Amino acid sequence: MPNTIKKIGVLTSGGDSPGMNAAIRSVVRTCAYHNIECVGIYRGYQGMIEGDFKEMGPRSVNNIVNKGGTILKSARSKEFMTVEGRKKAYDNLIKSKIDALVLIGGDGTFTGAEIFNSEFNFPVMGIPGTIDNDIFGTSHTLGYDTALNTVIECIDKIRDTASSHNRLFFVEVMGRDAGHIALNTGIGAGAQEILIPEEDLGLDRLLESLRKSKSAGKSSSIVVISEGDKMGKNVFELKDYVEENLPEYEVRVSVLGHMQRGGAPSCFDRVLASRLGVKAVESLLEGKSNYMAGIFNDKITLTPLDQAIKGSSEIDRELLRVSDIMST
Ligand code: F6P
Repeated sequence: MPNTIKKIGVLTSGGDSPGMNAAIRSVVRTCAYHNIECVGIYRGYQGMIEGDFKEMGPRSVNNIVNKGGTILKSARSKEFMTVEGRKKAYDNLIKSKIDALVLIGGDGTFTGAEIFNSEFNFPVMGIPGTIDNDIFGTSHTLGYDTALNTVIECIDKIRDTASSHNRLFFVEVMGRDAGHIALNTGIGAGAQEILIPEEDLGLDRLLESLRKSKSAGKSSSIVVISEGDKMGKNVFELKDYVEENLPEYEVRVSVLGHMQRGGAPSCFDRVLASRLGVKAVESLLEGKSNYMAGIFNDKITLTPLDQAIKGSSEIDRELLRVSDIMST
């Protein structure tokens, strides 16, 4: 099929994640490599509605491969959820002669892209960027690996003070609907228990596990809790509950928060971003649309956007068993 695409727009949307800049760089340079023009769209869909565009050449993405955040900024646009908002965005793309879009973000971003594509038949290609790793169709989203390493570094430090004071720490990590960060960092940092939204451990089982840990001679412990955990208590209420029921424990809470989204991307995330950017642009040039570029078994793949949105990224239940064994 002859290539009809001469200009590609790129944007980042939703929660930022380390590796987004490396992906922008990859999209811009892949366009340059194929003699296609590239336009950066600022503040995600909101910038598309407001026509906040900037031409980007290969030199405009110098020195960003190693930077966290996104030079294109990110936003969650309420206006893009309306037909009028999307029509304004479409008119701006046509005015600027943009023929196709690469969208870097999570499921909210992809949902917007799918609707936009179905309304205007506008070519779109997604790149998964979120630290939560909660997208179907890829084993890794951009920023997830970096976030794991950031969390591990923090918990290692918490462990130093926990063991000095013989304390129990509840460490809350990100993951509104998904426990990937909690599960993997919990194992990697040697947590006594890991609480995730996909599995309701139950308060009794938590108390039992902490009792066992004390009687097994452990003087300090870490419990990693995903922010989306479904035990019905927030992390501070959980601390009070445990202190009431197990007075032998002195509990402290540490909520890691948005620091998990920042920082220089890991080598893995930089390489992944570079590969996904190439795949997204070259797929558009081949006439494909409405897919997400992802990775499985180190191979770059394409998944239809609707599957990426609707499918769930299951946690590996074997990891729960490994965690149980490790906390013996
Ligand atoms: O990027 C995803 C995420 O980290 C979620 O785990 C978290 O709930 C959310 O972002 C918070 O984002 P914000 O503060 O930007 O709304």
